[in-house]
Amino acid sequence: MLLLRLLLFLLGGGDDNVLATEVMGSLFLPPGATINVEFIPNAGVRLLNVATKDSGTYSVHVNINLHGSIVTEVQTVETPSNQTVPSTSSSDGTFFLSLPSPVATGEYTCFLDNSSPASLCVESDSSLRKGASVVVDKMDARFAILASQMAAQEQEKTDLQNQLTDMKLREELMEQENAALQLQLDNLAAKIDAATQSVSFLASISSQTAQASEFNSGERIAFTITHLNNGNAYDRDTGVFTAPVNGTYVFLANLQLHSSSPSRRNVYTILKLGGSDVLTCYIAYDDYYDMGSCDVVLYMTAGQQVWLEIFSGGGGITLDSPSSSAFSGALIHTDI
Ligand SMILES: *[C@@H]1O[C@H](CO)[C@@H](O)[C@H](O)[C@H]1NC(C)=O
Ligand SMILES: *[C@@H]1O[C@H](CO)[C@@H](O)[C@H](O)[C@H]1NC(C)=O
Repeated sequence: MLLLRLLLFLLGGGDDNVLATEVMGSLFLPPGATINVEFIPNAGVRLLNVATKDSGTYSVHVNINLHGSIVTEVQTVETPSNQTVPSTSSSDGTFFLSLPSPVATGEYTCFLDNSSPASLCVESDSSLRKGASVVVDKMDARFAILASQMAAQEQEKTDLQNQLTDMKLREELMEQENAALQLQLDNLAAKIDAATQSVSFLASISSQTAQASEFNSGERIAFTITHLNNGNAYDRDTGVFTAPVNGTYVFLANLQLHSSSPSRRNVYTILKLGGSDVLTCYIAYDDYYDMGSCDVVLYMTAGQQVWLEIFSGGGGITLDSPSSSAFSGALIHTDI
């Protein structure tokens, strides 16, 4: 659908004044116009009441509004069956006609419609009036359609290949993400394993050893009877506890000293962490039986060791009774 509006401006005189405006056959004169303008179809413009002072150059300007945009011409197409059809679209002054498929073979002529107001502004021998022709061949058109279909298919193929590349890229990304997630999962599983580790022990002296031996300085106390050894971190042969994981541990030791011949000597025991002293437990031996204890909460890294040893004293004194001299410990929590 072509919407055509013709605006015709007549400019003239020495001052370039608008003398008249013609819109779709109606003539509009500016207020106070001294010259009368008459529009004669297919002939042009006639000026009336012209005086000597009005001599000068007069020109006609044409504006055609097509679909809201200004164009200079409107063309129509005549098909091989001598049908006159309006162009189906236009762009930048080029007019297009969409043809059905299969197309009718023959000559197509593009020309300015004589009934169009725009034709009034065109010279009678203008090529726009005669029209420009193009011969359309059915086979050529089919080939052109096939070629364009093939081009479209090529494009589609390229698009599909691009999509495939995109998808492969996404798949790679997802695999990477998956691997990263798996790593996180493994780390979490390892942390859970570490966190849920159960490490605890309780060991006491054996009655025979206690009664038989006297303790000397620097001697490690081996609590050889294990009542509990979750995680096997305590070695009853050496009396050494080895931390299996980084974490916070608690150790408790209760010692009962005994001597059948009191010599009133004091005994120091030391809780050692990896060879360095952690806690000195002083037991004042004043009587037949005396008790001392040694309790500590320690942060240990995996592999560090803890044990209890005699620092000084002990001559003629024994540790007594499996039920009252014991060493115990437990992992409170790991690092996470
Ligand atoms: C169309 O018109 C031309 C001349 O104007 C004539 O030669 C031709 O036979 C016509 N075609 C048809 C299909 O009427
Ligand atoms: C344990 O602690 C040590 C020292 O801080 C550190 O080097 C090591 O990586 C830790 N181990 C774990 C499993 O966190």
